[in-house]
Amino acid sequence: MLKDVIATRYITPLREGGSLPGLVEADDSGTYVVKFTGAGQGRKTLVAEVVCGELARRLGLRVPRLVTVELDPLLGLGEPDQQVQDLLRSSSGTNLGMDFLSGALGYDPLAFPVDAGEAGRTVWFDALVNNVDRSWRNPNLLVHHGDLWLIDHGATMIWQHNWPSAEASAARPYDASDHALARFAPDVRGAAADLAPLVTEDLLAEVTAAVPDVWLADEPGFDHPDDLRRSYARPLLARAAVIQDRITGIEGAA
Ligand SMILES: Nc1ncnc2c1ncn2[C@@H]1O[C@H](COP(=O)(O)OP(=O)(O)OP(=O)(O)O)[C@@H](O)[C@H]1O
Ligand SMILES: [Mg+2]
Repeated sequence: MLKDVIATRYITPLREGGSLPGLVEADDSGTYVVKFTGAGQGRKTLVAEVVCGELARRLGLRVPRLVTVELDPLLGLGEPDQQVQDLLRSSSGTNLGMDFLSGALGYDPLAFPVDAGEAGRTVWFDALVNNVDRSWRNPNLLVHHGDLWLIDHGATMIWQHNWPSAEASAARPYDASDHALARFAPDVRGAAADLAPLVTEDLLAEVTAAVPDVWLADEPGFDHPDDLRRSYARPLLARAAVIQDRITGIEGAA
């Protein structure tokens, strides 16, 4: 279970995010970047954020802490921006928050070289979850206090949009040629040796258990949120064993 907080103040929209994430203060005095269930991207992007964020963290990668944020749509009434007001009004209930890394800079590969080990672990993880949103054009990496942090895992696990084909997705290759860290000679073989054995059924059960039931309910073809959780876990378990041989576009990989 993620920690649950209650939104107390909407501070400002983060305009660079396509889904209009907002900076929100909560009843625990924390400041969070919140992604809203009412955004056009839909709740599956939030499920992906939780599954991938919690998995990455357990594999030793840095991801801002995730929380669920309860939103009373009345909070939006005073917002001058119509788009923000509409978004808050349609996002009543449980939304996703992540610790706001104050002062973090967007990643620039020219200013912040990464060693082959960290690059390899990041590329291997992105291949595992089929992350198409870590290119050098749009790295979704932040540098905070001298460390690299991973954000924005909404565009992963494409198979969640077509469950009947999900099992076959384990074999889907991953093209890393555009990856933000491709230039740092990512050691994906070393990463696979260290990380693949950690991706077990138990670990994936723990990670998928963190997704709130309300984002999993009423999925066509599934009677219970736990059935859907298992469907998220299965392709990841299968992929972990084989993905290092299916990464293309970087030296030393397949
Ligand atoms: N935890 C965080 N701490 C500090 N800044 C953040 C954090 N999360 C996101 N941001 C900032 O907000 C921007 C948008 O976040 P994010 O990429 O997650 O949103 P998005 O709507 O999924 O974006 P897009 O789909 O356009 O890539 C980031 O590029 C970054 O500048
Ligand atoms: Mg982004």
